[in-house]
Parts: sequence; C-alpha cells; structure tokens
Amino acid sequence: MKPVRDGPSEGERRGDQRRAADYLDRLRRLSSELVLAEERERRRIANDIHDGLGDELSMARIKTAELAAAHPADPRVAELTRILDRCIGGARALTFALAPPVLHELGLHAAFDWLVERLNVRSGVQMSFSGTGEPAGLTETERILCYRSVRELLRNVVKHAGARSAVVTARVRAGAYEIEVLDDGKGFDVEQALSHAEGIGFGLFSIRERLRHLGGQLRIRSTIGSGSRLTMRLPSARAGPPG
Ligand SMILES: Nc1ncnc2c1ncn2[C@@H]1O[C@H](COP(=O)(O)OP(=O)(O)OP(=O)(O)O)[C@@H](O)[C@H]1O
Ligand SMILES: [Mg+2]
Repeated sequence: MKPVRDGPSEGERRGDQRRAADYLDRLRRLSSELVLAEERERRRIANDIHDGLGDELSMARIKTAELAAAHPADPRVAELTRILDRCIGGARALTFALAPPVLHELGLHAAFDWLVERLNVRSGVQMSFSGTGEPAGLTETERILCYRSVRELLRNVVKHAGARSAVVTARVRAGAYEIEVLDDGKGFDVEQALSHAEGIGFGLFSIRERLRHLGGQLRIRSTIGSGSRLTMRLPSARAGPPG
C-alpha cells in the first residue's frame, strides 16, 4: 500500500518559504523603484514646464511690457499683463510642487523645512520641523524616499488626524537616522490601518515596505484620543560617502 501523505514535506515547505521571502523582497524593491521612477518623471515634467512653457511665458511678458509702453491707456494690455503674471506664477508654483528644487540642491532637512512651511499655510495644521545633523552618507535614493515618506505622513495628519499641530524631528541616534512625525490628533487603530482589508490605504504600508527594503523600519504608536507618533529609522550601516 502506498504511504498516505498528510501535507507538504519539510523540504517543500522550506522551498515555499524561500519563494515567498524572495517574492516579498522583490515587491519591496519594486515599491522603492516606483517612488524613484515617479520622482524622475516629476523632475522631467518640472524641467519641461520651466524650460518650455516658463520661457515662452517670460518672453510673452516682455513683449506685453513693450506693448504697454506703446499703448499706455489701453485697458486690454493691462488685463493681458495681469493674466500673464498669474500664468507665470502658476507655472512656477507647479514646477516647485512637482519637484521641490531644495531637496536636490540644499538637502533633506532644507526640504523638510520647505515642506512644513508650505503645508502650514495650506492645511491649517500648525507644523514645525527641527533637525540636527543630516547624515552625510545618505544616498539620493534614501533622501527621496525619506522626503516622500514624510510628505505622506504629514498628508495623513492633514487628512485623517484632525490635529491642531504636527512636529517633525530628525536626528542621528544610537547610530541610526531617525525621523519622527508627531501629531496631537485623534489617533487610530494601527493594526487595522496596516491590515490588508479592502478600502485600507496604501501610504503607511508602502512606507513600511520601502524602509524595510533599505534595512530600516517604521514604528507606529498611536493612542485613540491623544495622537500619533510615527518614527522612521534608517540604520547607520547604510551611511557611506554622500550619494
Ligand atoms: N496621523 C494619523 N492620525 C489619524 N489616523 C491616521 C493617521 N495616519 C494614518 N491614519 C489612519 O490610517 C489609515 C491608513 O493610512 P494610509 O496612509 O495607509 O492610507 P490612506 O491615507 O487612507 O490612503 P492613501 O495613503 O493610500 O491615500 C488611514 O485611513 C487613517 O484611518
Ligand atoms: Mg495616506
């Protein structure tokens, strides 16, 4: 009589576990690459707007100034000037929103300052940033991922927390780079927010997986009624020459 098998063998189980771990690894890498691809595309569009549309609008503005000098009493020229000024302002704001140049030119902490200030004005939530010593060894990839993650955490504060204030801090502690986003909002059920239930968002999940891909972690502490503290941690082992 043939022996009855009552499940996969030890070897088969190990193979399945290895395949699942590989798969997860690839998903994490994919998640990081998605953010980087988005960043590259945003920068490309921002450059196109700046160099193409922005230049044309500036040229039109110069010609309109000449027209205004030739026809100082014509109200249509004054109206045209105002419209063009609004268009130039709009194109500039769009370029900045797409790819804040501070991140690439002045670094991560300057970008956090800029982000917090911008959201402060728009959201009505009092936001602040304080940072000590941006680690020199962060690669461009890490800077982009950190920036996009903090942006998502602050957007969550605005969208979900009903908070009066949010504080972002960044520091190197116990050999790791830590960024913390603290709010005084209504708090939430962390387990549920990270579950795979239908209708649950993608933001926190993708931050967590991207950090894991870099060897880091996302710690979430939240108490219903007294706010949330989300801490992103990147290990110092990743610090090397500036990337
Ligand atoms: N700071 C916060 N305060 C209160 N609730 C929060 C906070 N951050 C997240 N949450 C809760 O956790 C859930 C999951 O957040 P997550 O960012 O993953 O998704 P989302 O913001 O709903 O959607 P998405 O990010 O995909 O646009 C939110 O729907 C919200 O209920
Ligand atoms: Mg979100």
